[in-house]
Amino acid sequence: MKLLEEKILSCGTVLSGNILKVDSFLNHQLDVELLNELGKEFYRLFESDKITRILTVEASGIAIACFAAQYFHVPVVFAKKGHHKNVGTDCYTAEVFSFTKGTSYTVFVSKKYLNEGDNVLIIDDFLANGQAALGLKKIVEDAGANLKGVGIAIEKGFQDGGKNLRELGVKLKSLAIVDSMTDDSIMFREDD
Ligand code: G4P
Repeated sequence: MKLLEEKILSCGTVLSGNILKVDSFLNHQLDVELLNELGKEFYRLFESDKITRILTVEASGIAIACFAAQYFHVPVVFAKKGHHKNVGTDCYTAEVFSFTKGTSYTVFVSKKYLNEGDNVLIIDDFLANGQAALGLKKIVEDAGANLKGVGIAIEKGFQDGGKNLRELGVKLKSLAIVDSMTDDSIMFREDD
């Protein structure tokens, strides 16, 4: 998506450890007009999938998921993060290991907010190693719901998350795929 790529080029900065800092518009301060365009684009990409729930994970996925949900007219459910495996039996849970942060955490969703037969679209701001997306995918499956797709704002194409999800047959749409980045250049993958 050209608009997002241009925003990354003009406002993003590359930090050591292959981190792309986009907190001036995506995950600290929020550019709501841009987020609205991302939401609209997710709707265009998944419009035919009869989505009934959008699932994300706190914190940074929530804003993007909400903008998308306004177009789908469905609720957003965000998985909460905790550090205890024991969050009760009324929740679906998954363990997520973050390579970026070097820690693992539990994500959980109340059984009240995800139903068997739901058509679920997972949305998140970043896809790096894909551990968060895989955790959410497990929760969708545990609920007996259907994973219709995964929508990501920025995929880091040089990490394995996107490749792994595509190999699992997941309909993955990333609005910008960064194939490489250095202090002074960011290269995007051409649209497929
Ligand atoms: P994975 O889920 O794809 O495996 O990613 P990983 O564990 O490596 O990333 C952990 C956290 O770091 C995630 O946020 C993810 O969005 C974020 N992240 C990964 N790469 C980048 C990057 O290049 N730039 C930025 N800005 N963030 C990155 P999180 O821990 O879930 O945090 P939050 O949603 O509460 O902000």
